[in-house]
Amino acid sequence: MTSFDCKNKFKPLTEGTYIKNAEEYKRLYKQSIEDPNAFWYEKAQEFLTWDKSFTTISSGTLKQGNVKYFEDGYLNVYQNCVLRHKEKKPNDVALIYEADDPEDARTITWLELSEQVQLYARVLKHLGVKKGDVVTIYMSTSPEAVYAMLACSYVGAIHSVIFGGFSSAAVRARVLDSKSEVIFTQNLTKRRGKLVPMKTTIDQAVEGIDFVRSVLVDEHVCNLKDQYEMRSNRDIYLKHFVSEFQKGGKYENENADMQPMSMNAEDPLFLLYTSGSTGKPKALIHTTGGYLLNAALTHKTVFDIREGDRYGCMADLGWITGHTYIVYAPLINGTTTVLFESTPDYPSITRYWDVIDKWGLTQFYTSPTAVRFVMTYGTEPLEKFSLKSLRVIGSVGEPIGVEAWNWYFKNVGKSKCYLVDTYWMTESGAIMISAIPGVTTLKRGSATLPLFGINPQLLVKNGGSKNIEMSMQKKKKQFLEIAENSQSGILTIKGHWPSITRTILGNHKRYLDTYLNPYPGYFLTGDSAYRDMDGFYFIKGRIDDVLNVSAHRFGTSELESALTLHPNTIEVAVVGMPHKIKGEAIFVFCVLKNKQVEENKIKNELKLLLQKTISKVATPEHIVVVESLPKTRSGKIMRRILKKIVTKNYEISTYGDLSTLLNPDSVKQIVSNVKKLF
Ligand code: WT7
Repeated sequence: MTSFDCKNKFKPLTEGTYIKNAEEYKRLYKQSIEDPNAFWYEKAQEFLTWDKSFTTISSGTLKQGNVKYFEDGYLNVYQNCVLRHKEKKPNDVALIYEADDPEDARTITWLELSEQVQLYARVLKHLGVKKGDVVTIYMSTSPEAVYAMLACSYVGAIHSVIFGGFSSAAVRARVLDSKSEVIFTQNLTKRRGKLVPMKTTIDQAVEGIDFVRSVLVDEHVCNLKDQYEMRSNRDIYLKHFVSEFQKGGKYENENADMQPMSMNAEDPLFLLYTSGSTGKPKALIHTTGGYLLNAALTHKTVFDIREGDRYGCMADLGWITGHTYIVYAPLINGTTTVLFESTPDYPSITRYWDVIDKWGLTQFYTSPTAVRFVMTYGTEPLEKFSLKSLRVIGSVGEPIGVEAWNWYFKNVGKSKCYLVDTYWMTESGAIMISAIPGVTTLKRGSATLPLFGINPQLLVKNGGSKNIEMSMQKKKKQFLEIAENSQSGILTIKGHWPSITRTILGNHKRYLDTYLNPYPGYFLTGDSAYRDMDGFYFIKGRIDDVLNVSAHRFGTSELESALTLHPNTIEVAVVGMPHKIKGEAIFVFCVLKNKQVEENKIKNELKLLLQKTISKVATPEHIVVVESLPKTRSGKIMRRILKKIVTKNYEISTYGDLSTLLNPDSVKQIVSNVKKLF
């Protein structure tokens, strides 16, 4: 991989950066690993305001699965996220709401945010929501969703935000699992200008679930009352209800000076459902103290956050990226944060660039999928935008291949902004591996170096076998840490850090078995990685995505990244298929830009490309051209389904739950294309 030390070309970041230089990073990193309690003690004072300070910094071990941080400390989320900024700068902008329709955009000040959160909290209290209750939030990325999230912690409730694109079946499973009695939703939302029936979906989702007692409805799209129903004994319009708590309203004096709940640092702040490789979605629990601290610290470090910045993360609130890097971290740090409700191509393909220039964004954070998507339109749409306010651009969610990295760096960052490839996961709560602006030498395709408190270790099976999956599945406890650089292994984190998820709701055993028991003392990320000669990490992808072809090891992302270098591919997915001689063979699915080409010609070119960029052993067995790939709503390709298809299982009903797919129809088409091959 090419090292890319271009410090001199970057915008001057040294002045005022939170971490000043490589020496400071090294010193603090060393302290965070060797004397973590001293490190976290200091950061906990610096980033958070405590109601009652703690005497213990951390306790418990990964082996026992009972990690705690600041366990006798108390703090309240409202004070940390809202009140202290409202007192300092009431009329500054806290939230920028970039609605689906750009005409509906608006800003919310710290003062307005504080008033709305308090009103929502009084509504929850009035409805009898108590500390520890789970409240579901099924809304678009909008200010009202943020008010609802913060109102939950105001009364000590645990929020469960469900991505607004999920089907009623997916919502139902989550409401049943979390036993949530109160739900926030919207009557309708808009997605690419089309109405989305949120309230009707909730009605279907909770049909017959008796414990759901209140559905609070934000009238997000006005004057369309004929498009959904309200049930008199359960459903309440938030706006009307909230106004009863304001001056002159029916409940004007009820809890008018209610104080925000002082939470124990280990009290759950929220739960968030995520899919594992097997089984039903699991609710991961994040805490109040440790989570908020590491969210704020990583945000400030990785995005070089300064007073007055306007920071924009394009994710949806329904994912961990939305929780940590749209809501909690920016609010703790008092940073103006963008709520982006739309898509990169609505109303036109310049939407992202419009948003950056319109608000003068200083940081821009999105996913490789989105970058690859806008890339297919070339650089012409960018021409009339200056993007000159940007200092740092970020990527998250999957490996960003070299081609997308280059394009993003050059055309969006104008070769002057730091590009931070941030590696983390729902379970980690916050970024684990990332470059730091002004500090880290960038390398294309590498997430670079670990952040504070994160001690990554690559593991291989004892005896040096290359077959790392074997060691995971069969001989769980026989492994070795890889001491030297320039090797690949299972990516684990040795020891704990403040924002690590503490458990799976109602299933601590599954938590231990998935993450902590496979390698006692280490947290299993589920990814494999390569560490180069300088100690920089290259994430290769999920371990279940690693192929072994004739005893040669290939990461699916490695193969895919090579294939997307072809000018006519938009997206590709590679899966392994069982092969008599090779063990596993490479099966390629690809989506083409220009469909008017000779299929055999392009297939040949792709074969040659893999042979050329990786090795002859990487010659694919089959290449199938498809219209689109089956994806989750967060944009992840569902390889699970593709794997079933390539093993000639054409029975769609056996593929498991497809309700969470973005494009369920793609599956039928792929099955029929693959059938033709055999
Ligand atoms: C998985 C976690 C973290 C928020 C979004 C996804 C992959 C994430 C990167 C990156 C390579 C990455 C990993 C990880 N991943 N970021 N920068 N480079 N891979 O959260 O849904 O919990 O997924 O996403 O495979 O395990 P998630």
